[in-house]
Amino acid sequence: MNLTLRPARPEDLDALWQLDRDCYPRGIAYTRRDLRDFLTHPEALSQVAWSGKEIVGFLIGLYHDGQGHIITADVRASARRQGIASALLRGVESEMGARGVTVVELETATNNAAGIAFWKRSGYQIVAVVPRYYLRRIDAYLMFKRLRPSVVPADLPR
Ligand SMILES: CC(C)(COP(=O)(O)OP(=O)(O)OC[C@H]1O[C@@H](n2cnc3c(N)ncnc32)[C@H](O)[C@@H]1OP(=O)(O)O)[C@@H](O)C(=O)NCCC(=O)NCCS
Repeated sequence: MNLTLRPARPEDLDALWQLDRDCYPRGIAYTRRDLRDFLTHPEALSQVAWSGKEIVGFLIGLYHDGQGHIITADVRASARRQGIASALLRGVESEMGARGVTVVELETATNNAAGIAFWKRSGYQIVAVVPRYYLRRIDAYLMFKRLRPSVVPADLPR
């Protein structure tokens, strides 16, 4: 698949909302308003994967004061295991790193085997269990990754 990666645009909102509802159970999927609020947050970073025909994946993160938080990672079921989420995550992590983020955290349901495998493969470690995080009954893992410091050429000795 020939994909273009780019930040989300306001006109993507409905497509992202639909994809999120395809990716997560009812009650866990975000509302349209939640997604709009995330995307318009001044410290939001996002990436979408565009196939030329449709959005096949997206990832949203927020950052503040050196700390990043992944809000969601969504890839269309028919497009999984092709490295799309990995590419989206690299894009958002690298934008975070450029803004001084050194640690990134996220929550994922303890029953989401694919999600947990993906985050572990992407360098995230489980640091805690958050009881009844989803729907007041499904536990979440809090996961954490330290970003490698980005080398800023201007900081190098001359
Ligand atoms: C989790 C999700 C985002 C992964 O997207 P993806 O584009 O398929 O991920 P990638 O192709 O980049 O996977 C990278 C690696 O993660 C691991 N991984 C991803 N999905 C996996 C699965 N279903 N089972 C086991 N390992 C998996 C593998 O190591 C994979 O590398 P490989 O394919 O070479 O073995 C996707 O399955 C999804 O949208 N799920 C529904 C929403 C969700 O649960 N999001 C994450 C929780 S916030």
